[in-house]
Amino acid sequence: MSSNSDKTTKAISPGNGPVAVTGASGYIGSWIVQDMLEQGYQVRACVRNALIPEKVDHLLAMKQAGYRGVLELHEADLQVAGSYDNAFKDCSAVIHTGAAVGYNKESPQEVYDGCFTEVGHVLDSAMKSGALKRFIFTSSFAAVGHPRPKGYVFTEKDWCGDNEEAYRGAWSEDNIAMNRDIAYAKAKARTEKMIYAAAANAGSFEAMAILPLHVVGPLMCANHDQGWSWQNCIKFMLRGKSYVKSKGGRMLWNMVDVRDTARAHRLCAESTLAGNGSRYILSAMDRSGEMFTYQLQAALAGLFPGIATVGGEEMSGDQPVQLTHDGPRAYALLAKQELGLDGYAIEDTLRATGDSYLQLNLLHT
Ligand SMILES: NC(=O)c1ccc[n+]([C@@H]2O[C@H](COP(=O)([O-])OP(=O)(O)OC[C@H]3O[C@@H](n4cnc5c(N)ncnc54)[C@H](OP(=O)(O)O)[C@@H]3O)[C@@H](O)[C@H]2O)c1
Repeated sequence: MSSNSDKTTKAISPGNGPVAVTGASGYIGSWIVQDMLEQGYQVRACVRNALIPEKVDHLLAMKQAGYRGVLELHEADLQVAGSYDNAFKDCSAVIHTGAAVGYNKESPQEVYDGCFTEVGHVLDSAMKSGALKRFIFTSSFAAVGHPRPKGYVFTEKDWCGDNEEAYRGAWSEDNIAMNRDIAYAKAKARTEKMIYAAAANAGSFEAMAILPLHVVGPLMCANHDQGWSWQNCIKFMLRGKSYVKSKGGRMLWNMVDVRDTARAHRLCAESTLAGNGSRYILSAMDRSGEMFTYQLQAALAGLFPGIATVGGEEMSGDQPVQLTHDGPRAYALLAKQELGLDGYAIEDTLRATGDSYLQLNLLHT
């Protein structure tokens, strides 16, 4: 961690110049762009292809929305070295949210290797900015979680490689190529360590990470309904179906609003308490955001009485047929304490998620 004096000098504000966001067309990236525009930043929204209307029209609409900040759209590709050099020039902060997360059918090894390649390219371009103070990386709770007894509460001090003996070999290096979850978790954890080391070595900027868990909340466009995403699972439930992301649809949902996740990135860049190596779990604000699938089913049924059947796990009367592992438990406490994050109530988040699916006309079967 940096000294206190370093921390205060590297916190940014709109007066420090432009900021850049990678993955700006994506679910989390789009909300980061909007939040920063609301706060008066000059935002360089970096997208892979600015000519695909279904991916950029919602961003272009922000130009007409009367925000205090200014939006510029830049094209760049995470796989291409130097691609972000122009977009990042003179930027005080780079928020790296873009990623090939495996939704596009990448193999586990591609997810793992891709994370290092992509972060390396983005970091190299960011360090050429000439004005970089903060590098904020969207890591994942996957970089924190690992086998623990039920009810264990994870914090930012946990890393996915901890408690190795409990993995019984399942999380070995060999299995990176076999298992997308292992590849994703190990890549996120190791790239986090890579960016903290690079920043410590450079001394001129600080790197920090946001670690989201189950991100849900309103979609800005139909393209945010990516198959295999958590919001997509909610769509299946609202269509009266189960989903295949967890066995039998059974799991403990530990939910955070996409708008809170986005705001935390900016607050991190602006924080005088955060320093190099700071990491913030973005999960449930409190226990109300943690629900087993059957509890989420009941909550959605209460919020959307017009939907005849809400799907989820198999029930016997008002009880689930099978018990679910009680985990992962974790709360966005440090983000509240250090970043001053004030989160949405879970009912607001779930209502806004369903409403956006209805408005985008994506709930028909
Ligand atoms: N959503 C969650 O619950 C969650 C939880 C933990 C961590 N995260 C992390 O949060 C980040 C954003 O996730 P998300 O849910 O917002 O996913 P998303 O909606 O799929 O957004 C990913 C973004 O990355 C861009 N991208 C992918 N490959 C690219 C390339 N080669 N060049 C340029 N841009 C590229 C995508 O652009 P295209 O549209 O052009 O593909 C898209 O804008 C990821 O790093 C993910 O690991 C998400």
